[in-house]
Amino acid sequence: MNPTFTQPHVVIRPTLPADTPAILEFCKRIWGGQDYIPFVWDEWRGDPKGILFTAEYAGKAVGIVRIVHTAPGQWWFEGFRVDPAYQGQRIGTQLHEYLVDWWLAHGDGKVRLWTNAKRVKVQHLCERRGFIHTQTRGMYTAAPLAEPLEAFTPVKADEIPSAVDFARQASSQSISGETMDITWQAVTPNETNLRELLSWETGRVLWWRGRQGLLCLWKNDEYRPPCPAIALAACESTNLPALLLDARRSAHQDGFDKIVINARLTPEMDATLTSAGFARENDDSNFEYERVHPMHHSP
Ligand SMILES: CC(C)(COP(=O)(O)OP(=O)(O)OC[C@H]1O[C@@H](n2cnc3c(N)ncnc32)[C@H](O)[C@@H]1OP(=O)(O)O)[C@@H](O)C(=O)NCCC(=O)NCCS
Repeated sequence: MNPTFTQPHVVIRPTLPADTPAILEFCKRIWGGQDYIPFVWDEWRGDPKGILFTAEYAGKAVGIVRIVHTAPGQWWFEGFRVDPAYQGQRIGTQLHEYLVDWWLAHGDGKVRLWTNAKRVKVQHLCERRGFIHTQTRGMYTAAPLAEPLEAFTPVKADEIPSAVDFARQASSQSISGETMDITWQAVTPNETNLRELLSWETGRVLWWRGRQGLLCLWKNDEYRPPCPAIALAACESTNLPALLLDARRSAHQDGFDKIVINARLTPEMDATLTSAGFARENDDSNFEYERVHPMHHSP
């Protein structure tokens, strides 16, 4: 018998319930035990908007990756992991290739991902498969402002289409970038995600000063205690510092001890945030990559 028939090979396939113990076990050894996968695993497994794939080697789950259909024409890659005992053997390459090919066959519009500025392997893989590094992001934080505020009114469900139009046309995009950050996923403002945000008890979609601006917030519970995270602040460019200052006032009104934003790292955005009293939380930064579907552009 040819011995190569019995040698184990890496197989990429949809994740099965039986993979869970091995995955949760190897995630304990990723990022010094700080990996978030164990906290989101049950939610991810049950989420119909996403698909998880496993790299299986010799009958054992040794890697995972996930793709999420965040909105029409928008896709997101996340949860890319290889068991530390098997890293450096091109299993990550095979998972990434599989995922990109899956999206090319089934997806459309744009696929995006974030990866830490230090993760050279992921950057290499993205660049190899035609992704463009569109921007870099970092966390900023500010203390709430204990000052009176009457600037915000909730966006009503039937106003979502006009809120999306407003966000997509706002000149502040030239400073803050095209994408917003909802629960660590980058999306171009769209009806699906704004409706979702509106439906969450802790989500906020707010007009600012009549309809001069739009502020979207989600509650980031990675902070202890949890705090509001700015998903989107859209308005005339010159008004952006004032809108951000009012976001700090709203954080005070809602009883939080800080407000954060995962912001585009550019001198202009930094100057805007600094003028509104925000400061970089640390030196960490993430690269945002995106690829446009070659056949099926945005609907
Ligand atoms: C990132 C991760 C999934 C990659 O998996 P892996 O199996 O170790 O990676 P591979 O061995 O397949 O290498 C991937 C590619 O990076 C290349 N690479 C390796 N070292 C590199 C370096 N220093 N600079 C650039 N590219 C490098 C490899 O050559 C390979 O590319 P190729 O197939 O074109 O030759 C894995 O290391 C991991 O789980 N890390 C911890 C969690 C993490 O950071 N996940 C990413 C979140 S975005």
